[in-house]
This record gives sequence, C-alpha cells and structure tokens, in this order.
Amino acid sequence: EFHEHPKKLDLASNGVFGKFDNQQLQRGFQVYKEVCAACHSLKYVAFRDLAALGYSEAEVAAIADDYQVPSVNPDTGEAATRDGVAADRFPLVYPNEVAARAANNNAIPPDLSLMTKARHDGAAYVYSLLTGYQPTVPAEVTQKYPEFQVSPGLNYNPYFPTLALAMAPPLVADNQVTYADGTPATVDQMAKDVAAFLVWTAEPKLAARHTAGLASVLFILIFTGLAWGSYKTIWRDKK
Ligand code: HEM
Repeated sequence: EFHEHPKKLDLASNGVFGKFDNQQLQRGFQVYKEVCAACHSLKYVAFRDLAALGYSEAEVAAIADDYQVPSVNPDTGEAATRDGVAADRFPLVYPNEVAARAANNNAIPPDLSLMTKARHDGAAYVYSLLTGYQPTVPAEVTQKYPEFQVSPGLNYNPYFPTLALAMAPPLVADNQVTYADGTPATVDQMAKDVAAFLVWTAEPKLAARHTAGLASVLFILIFTGLAWGSYKTIWRDKK
C-alpha cells in the first residue's frame, strides 16, 4: 500500500443508528450540481429521488428542467435533447468514452452514483481525496520511492491509489458554492457535504435498513427471553 488511509469522517449516517442529515445532503447535492457535475455523471439517480432530501415536487421539477436529457425528434427520428422531468435520471456528461477522455487528459471521470461503495471506506475516501491534494511531493515520498514522479497533467494526492490522478483539485476556494441554508462553505465543509450526499446516492435506503436491523435484533432478544422463560416453566418440576 503506497497511499494513505482515509481521514476519519463523522457523518450522521455512520453507525447502526445512523440517519441522513437532509440539510447536509442538500448542501452536498448543491456541491455536486455546481462543481462535480461538470465532469461526473450520476446515472443511477433519478431527479424524483431527490424528494427524499426534502425538496418539494416543484423544486424537483425545477432541478430536472435545468438538465438536458437524450431524446428523439418525433418527426425525423434523429437523436435530440429535451428538458429533463422528474422521472428522468441524471444524464451522462459526455456522449462517449472518447469525448470523456479527450476532455480529461485521457482519464475518464467515473460515474459517482456508487462511488462511496466502490472504494474502501468510500465516504471518508471521497472527503480525503478532495481535501488531500498537495502542491509538491513530500520529501518522505520521494525518498521512499525515488522513481516516483507526477506525470504532466496529473496531480499529487496521497489518498489516490497511485498517488497522482488526472482530476485537478475541484474544490479550491471557500465559498465556491453559496449554500442555500447559509452554512459557511469552507473547502472542508463542501468536501464533507458532497461525501455525505454520495453516501445517499449509493444507498438511499440506508436509514430504513438500519431501522429494520434494529427491529430485528430487538425481536430476537424478546423472542430469546420468551423461549428461555418457557424452557424454565416447562422444566420447573424436573430439577
Ligand atoms: C476522479 C470525485 C469534480 C474529473 C474522481 C474520483 C472521485 C471524484 C471520487 C475517483 C477517484 C478514484 O477512482 O478512486 C469528484 C467530486 C467532485 C469532482 C466529488 C466535485 C467536488 C471533478 C471535476 C472534474 C473531474 C470538476 C473535471 C474538470 C475527474 C477525472 C477523474 C476523476 C478526470 C479520473 C482521475 C483518474 O483516474 O486519474 N473524481 N470529482 N472531477 N475526476 Fe472528479
């Protein structure tokens, strides 16, 4: 392992009692929409799913309307685009892999829908990656790996498996996003919020799973108690 283990990230969704913090998810969505969406798709998420974050039907419709989704011209049969509606999924950013690579120094910006599941300790990884860029390679790294150098067009980041990646730091300045809820938009806050949002995109039913798990454990405990009690009752006279 060359790269660093992700930093610790405390999210409301962590742990067996974890629930989503909708305010944070909305902020994270804002970061995704205003920054990450320039390069990264979110192809498994439909606009109407955003209702779970607390957006009204009208707000969801307005968000969808901002996007152009693939469509077909009914007269000519040619490919066309139209305004998105709530039932659409987030459209792809690039028409194909060649276009994606051409715009990104020959790398492909991966779809972010399932990123926090695809990477070990995913949310903390995304947060660490976004806040972990360093302008120069630290001396310890150069001493340990004398052959290592950051190729032109790549950026040093100790959390990336190969230590250098094609994505330039996307969050570089405080207030890059103006949060609707007034939370100060530091780089650290924006990185946390978008990581929290990507936990939701990867597992929107996380809170329901936690609730069901706890109910199951509670049920088993009560059942075990009853079974123990009936065992005791049945064998009461046979000491
Ligand atoms: C890769 C997140 C903005 C271009 C990645 C990866 C993540 C990520 C998690 C995957 C790292 C891995 O494979 O383990 C984000 C987030 C963003 C953001 C949360 C917004 C805050 C952008 C923007 C661009 C971009 C604006 C383009 C200008 C890329 C590219 C890669 C990448 C090209 C592939 C890098 C490589 O494989 O070398 N991003 N990104 N990203 N991102 Fe972003």
